[in-house]
Amino acid sequence: MIQPYADEIRVDALGNLIARKGKKAKDGKRIMLAAHLDEIGLIVSHVDAKGFARFSALGGLSPHRRLGARVKFLNGARGVIALEREAEIKDRAPGLDRYFIDTGATSDRDCPVKVGDVAVFDTEFQDLGNRVVARALDDRAGVALLVESLTRLKSGKNEVWYVFTVQEEVGTRGAGPASYGIDPEIGLALDVTPASDVPSTRERNPIALGGGPAIKVKDAGVISDPRIVQEMTRLAEKNRIPHQFEVMEMGGTDAAKMQVTGLGAQAGGIAIPVRHLHSPSEMVDLDDLKNAGKLLAAFLR
Ligand code: CO
Ligand code: ZN
Repeated sequence: MIQPYADEIRVDALGNLIARKGKKAKDGKRIMLAAHLDEIGLIVSHVDAKGFARFSALGGLSPHRRLGARVKFLNGARGVIALEREAEIKDRAPGLDRYFIDTGATSDRDCPVKVGDVAVFDTEFQDLGNRVVARALDDRAGVALLVESLTRLKSGKNEVWYVFTVQEEVGTRGAGPASYGIDPEIGLALDVTPASDVPSTRERNPIALGGGPAIKVKDAGVISDPRIVQEMTRLAEKNRIPHQFEVMEMGGTDAAKMQVTGLGAQAGGIAIPVRHLHSPSEMVDLDDLKNAGKLLAAFLR
């Protein structure tokens, strides 16, 4: 999709897709934008004699949100996540070791999956009108933003590197080597943030779905450069773009790696609110996505 719009395009050793647009002028900046291609998954760790597969997580599989979820494997096999009979859900979620995948097999001999096979959630895209539900909107929402931005950006004094990263969910592993090769002065993560405007017993970090993109102030891996936070806030106010501020207590983004790789960079990010994060059914408000695009475009200009 992006090939005709990029001035240069490459895939590095890890699998990061890296595209450049524009060339840095004397008074311009080298900017790296990162959105991750990978998603939450699981990997088979054991198949028992009856054909039930135990698994471990690739990324943060949310507690309470696995039971009954359907999964599909790279080899096409399907299954459902189930829980040991005596491990009832009371107040605390049972550990991942109490769950298994039932592929319908009757023994280990006819089980379609083996140790090391990987799967993702198997859910259909749903259009609810202005809101959409799908698996892995974390971070397909950010990837969509990058694609839109790259196809629309007019070359100016800035050199903009669009990086579609790998292995973010297992510890922001792809962004570091990509950033090392690019050496940006500014690094922005385009990722999601949990919308907390759902029924809750405590009011914290009130990010609302439909409340606008969140300007990243802090997550567990980065404290944004205050100059970037200020400039984004100024642009959002000037252009009347609804916005919120993100202080995420758990979870990091590629911004963490861009900030400290090589000689370092001014880091920041735009976070799209997502409900039911890391579940098989994540929800995004399309206005948030459009407004995130407006804010990104204003910043790049
Ligand atoms: Co995630
Ligand atoms: Zn993400």
